[in-house]
Amino acid sequence: MTSDILIIGAGVAGLYTALKMAPRPVTIITARPLGEGGSTPWAQGGMAAAIGDDDTPNLHFADTMEAGGGLVDPEAASLLVDGGAAAVEDLAHYGVEFDRDADGALKLGREAAHCRNRIVHAAGDQAGAAIMAALIAAARAADHITILERIVVEDLLTDDHGAVGGALIYDVKAGERAVFDASETVMATGGLGGLYAVTTNPTPAQGHGLAFAARAGAIIRDPEFVQFHPTALDIGADPAPLATEALRGAGALLVNADGKRFMEDYHKSLELAPRDIVARAVEAEIVAGRGAFLDAREAIGARFPDAFPTVFASCQKARIDPRKQLMPVAPAAHYHMGGVATDLDGQSSIDGLWAVGEVASTGVHGANRLASNSLLEAVVFGARIADQLREKEPTKRINAGAPADRMDLASKPADPDAMARLRSKMSEGCALNRSREGLLQVIDVIHALNISPFMTSGLKSTLITAELIAQGALMREESRGGHFRTDHPETDEEAFNTEICTTDTYEEDEDGT
Ligand code: SIN
Repeated sequence: MTSDILIIGAGVAGLYTALKMAPRPVTIITARPLGEGGSTPWAQGGMAAAIGDDDTPNLHFADTMEAGGGLVDPEAASLLVDGGAAAVEDLAHYGVEFDRDADGALKLGREAAHCRNRIVHAAGDQAGAAIMAALIAAARAADHITILERIVVEDLLTDDHGAVGGALIYDVKAGERAVFDASETVMATGGLGGLYAVTTNPTPAQGHGLAFAARAGAIIRDPEFVQFHPTALDIGADPAPLATEALRGAGALLVNADGKRFMEDYHKSLELAPRDIVARAVEAEIVAGRGAFLDAREAIGARFPDAFPTVFASCQKARIDPRKQLMPVAPAAHYHMGGVATDLDGQSSIDGLWAVGEVASTGVHGANRLASNSLLEAVVFGARIADQLREKEPTKRINAGAPADRMDLASKPADPDAMARLRSKMSEGCALNRSREGLLQVIDVIHALNISPFMTSGLKSTLITAELIAQGALMREESRGGHFRTDHPETDEEAFNTEICTTDTYEEDEDGT
């Protein structure tokens, strides 16, 4: 198979980038039927955009910089916040019906660490699904886009100069492996919450794209920064259903089993403190045996089913009525701030490879993503990649052949027992609270699984990504944003990025790190 431009992944990042590429032909491949398996349709919060009368891009910029713990790239953040109004307008043009008040003005919600109401929603807590529905319809109708479903990527292909020239794929329907040649490859493969035992992400979000890029030699930036959402519903479901931060934005409280509003003990901004602080507070209450619950009875009450239909449906499945009862919550792996290092136009450190959306590290999130900045990032930076590629002369790349160590492995997802062991270890040693000892134990388990007789291409990729996170966390001997080291609770004066490329990843120091 061949395509001039190949986009891997069909969430908001992949679809929007493809749409903006017109009229240049582009092929999107996706492992599942369009609209299934990715995180975008699950996004409840919405998209941040500084469009309120009392708001400005400068205020949005300041909040983004503040949340990111000293690691946000100011140039990237400026592009992001300046693009908010146009992004909302363009998505509306594609047919997204954002929630509006009786006068037709966009309704703007509040989320943690935003100093203004600036989150646009659609159908209450169903912004992601609304955006996906509109972009899928537009992509299906677009002449320049070819969509290939049920095609699993197993690796990237490189030429003799190290440039990426497409992907090794597995066609699920045909049951066959094939080579897919492309002159430019855009990774839009999403996140990696599925590497953790408790996550709000769909199960397939296991960070395979990050592993492909790392194996191809791309620089991976800040892989240790994984954001945990403070309020997943703790009802024994895997993945754990999200109870959107917009609930707290609308006044819902966090209480423990004694009925105490415990955020009073942790931060002056209470329930709307930065996400990492709320997540660690929720975890501390749970570990102390006091439990953590969301109380929306007074603030939202009877409005709950209409205002938050997704959360209401999840509660109903667990026989909880949030109009009258507390919702048990726990932190859950939610978003990966690190990723394939890109420049401001989405280009990675190697030729032929671009990255957009959660798999990319454009510099806008730093150590702690500001809520609802990610849909905006996908739109703003997807358009920038399209601007670069639309007119670019096609480059003929001669791939050096499919990687031999991949061809030996079965084209299958990871073995469920191996995944269960990995996920539980990642949650134990590489989650909200980390230490050198715990991280070395995580790496031991990764290495033990790496020689599993049940090795498959899916497990291999999963292990590479898990190790990138753990090695990054080990290297960062400080605490910052989403990364907290119990053995290094202080924050270094000078902020620095972790950068890993594959040779570093697998070279062990004398002490085993
Ligand atoms: C939420 O709805 O709480 C999640 C929003 C986000 O993670 O951006």
